Amino acid sequence: MINKTSSPDYFHFPVMLDEVIKICSPHKGGIYIDCTFGGGGYSKGILSFSQTKVIALDRDRFIQNISKKMKKKYINRFFFYQKKFSELNTVVGNQLVDAVVFDLGLSSIQLKNLERGFSFKSKGNLDMSMGLSNTSAAEVLNNFSEQKLKSIIKILGEEKDASKIAKNIVRSRKEKKITNVDQLVEIIERSKKKKFTTKINPSTKTFQALRIFVNKEITELIEGIVNATKVLKPGGKILIVSFHSLEDRVVKYFFSNFSTSKSKSSRYFPDKEEDSRSLFDSYKNRIIKPSNTEIIKNPPSRSAKLRFAIRSKDKFFYPKDLLNKFKKYLNLESFYV
Ligand SMILES: C[S@@+](CC[C@H](N)C(=O)[O-])C[C@H]1O[C@@H](n2cnc3c(N)ncnc32)[C@H](O)[C@@H]1O
Repeated sequence: MINKTSSPDYFHFPVMLDEVIKICSPHKGGIYIDCTFGGGGYSKGILSFSQTKVIALDRDRFIQNISKKMKKKYINRFFFYQKKFSELNTVVGNQLVDAVVFDLGLSSIQLKNLERGFSFKSKGNLDMSMGLSNTSAAEVLNNFSEQKLKSIIKILGEEKDASKIAKNIVRSRKEKKITNVDQLVEIIERSKKKKFTTKINPSTKTFQALRIFVNKEITELIEGIVNATKVLKPGGKILIVSFHSLEDRVVKYFFSNFSTSKSKSSRYFPDKEEDSRSLFDSYKNRIIKPSNTEIIKNPPSRSAKLRFAIRSKDKFFYPKDLLNKFKKYLNLESFYV
């Protein structure tokens, strides 16, 4: 595969950069973790303040030419790891940090690379791995039972026609292995009950479901935000930009149920003293959205939601309730071929 990230076509427009920088307040210096480096927009924004250090992670090896350039420019201030953010504690060590930022999902660099199968506009192979995944969309489509395919498409894609799509996938693969994007698009279009409106492409939800599954995105998100909370200083901030409702539900639940504004009497914390512990200061359930000017400049930003929470002074404890609450998704993502 050709690495095209240096081409101007492969630029990623950082979503709500001004808002992210304002919340991080890097003018005072400090250590920041950029969990989703992508095109490096947030990292560059933070590093433009001279007293800062950035530890960046991205699971995608195809963005390494951008990270290499930044390493040369910001010597001893910028550190990059090709790792999943669920593993962020392995690169941070014992130091506590000022803020951790997540900008979830795909970068336009990945989406526009038509060889990776993320876009239903491409004619490429059905890969859909952002990197460091142990399966591909093609493997899932050709090997999973109809029932498993239906659950993935219905639960992770919230696709109403999941049954029909799963049935037609299984029927089609008996005749010919499903390897290319256009084969899958044809199956989905044939299966959809309603004829399509121009607003949302009929393949959107199934593609989203497969991508979430291949990259285990809900498991990653839950492990990532828990590990981020563990390495934050008291008063440190965790910021998350999400693009679909499932991600936002996880983030909202985590911030509001483990903050001082919510008393969490839970069977996991029977002790009175433990009951009163929180991971975050009072959480106001505030959502920040891109301005109209930003949406005009970068239309994909329209579905972005930014939430942030501030780490409390309490000692870290493992938020087991978060796993229980989203068990359905975690179990689903642990299916294997
Ligand atoms: C929306 S882009 C980030 C763009 C970045 N904020 C910028 O300004 O250029 C998301 C990036 O996160 C990476 N990513 C997604 N899930 C990840 C995970 N679990 N671990 C590490 N990187 C991940 C993707 O590979 C992609 O490059």
